[in-house]
Amino acid sequence: MDKVKVDYEKMYYGFPVILISYYDKAGNANVTTLSSSYTLKDMVMLGFSSKGYAINQIKEVSDFVINIADHNLLEEIKICGKYSGTDCNKFEKANLTPIPSEVVKAPLIAECPINIECTLADIIESSQFEGITNVLATIKGRLVSETKLDENGRMKIAELDNVLYYNDGVNRGLK
Ligand SMILES: Cc1cc2nc3c(=O)[nH]c(=O)nc-3n(C[C@H](O)[C@H](O)[C@H](O)COP(=O)(O)O)c2cc1C
Repeated sequence: MDKVKVDYEKMYYGFPVILISYYDKAGNANVTTLSSSYTLKDMVMLGFSSKGYAINQIKEVSDFVINIADHNLLEEIKICGKYSGTDCNKFEKANLTPIPSEVVKAPLIAECPINIECTLADIIESSQFEGITNVLATIKGRLVSETKLDENGRMKIAELDNVLYYNDGVNRGLK
């Protein structure tokens, strides 16, 4: 395999697109698009640009939901990743439906087949990586659409339809 050295400012090599939903300090439901995440057991880590509305609200309200988007939601992903909650209610703008979670003080997105209910455990910011805020959170509950579960209640992997985000700093896209 012949290779070429590249000097990109970033390389996102295919990360699942998630929609983060929360009630802001005024109690209004809002949502933002994210791709920077990983999870191990009941821990999840998210990466936010420090300036966004969502991260600054979540720092105060603590609870949020990770909603796994599928290919039916490409337009909604773009809307929630383009506008800021500072200026608008993205549930309304993207025509998404908030449903109150029973285990955290945050709304689920009805249209997403998987919802992961979370509460903030820690905020990690480093002077080495200015402008980035990492959210360490505890998973309190998980909901999966019945259509994605087999007779044993486990995930039907073949039925999952996650959207992946790629970005090399110039070329970017969803797949
Ligand atoms: C596909 C996609 C993935 C994104 N991933 C991230 C991400 O991982 N972290 C982040 O801070 N912003 C990410 N964004 C950008 C935010 O969604 C965008 O800046 C949004 O307007 C912030 O909204 P807010 O001010 O309401 O928080 C992504 C956008 C798109 C379209």
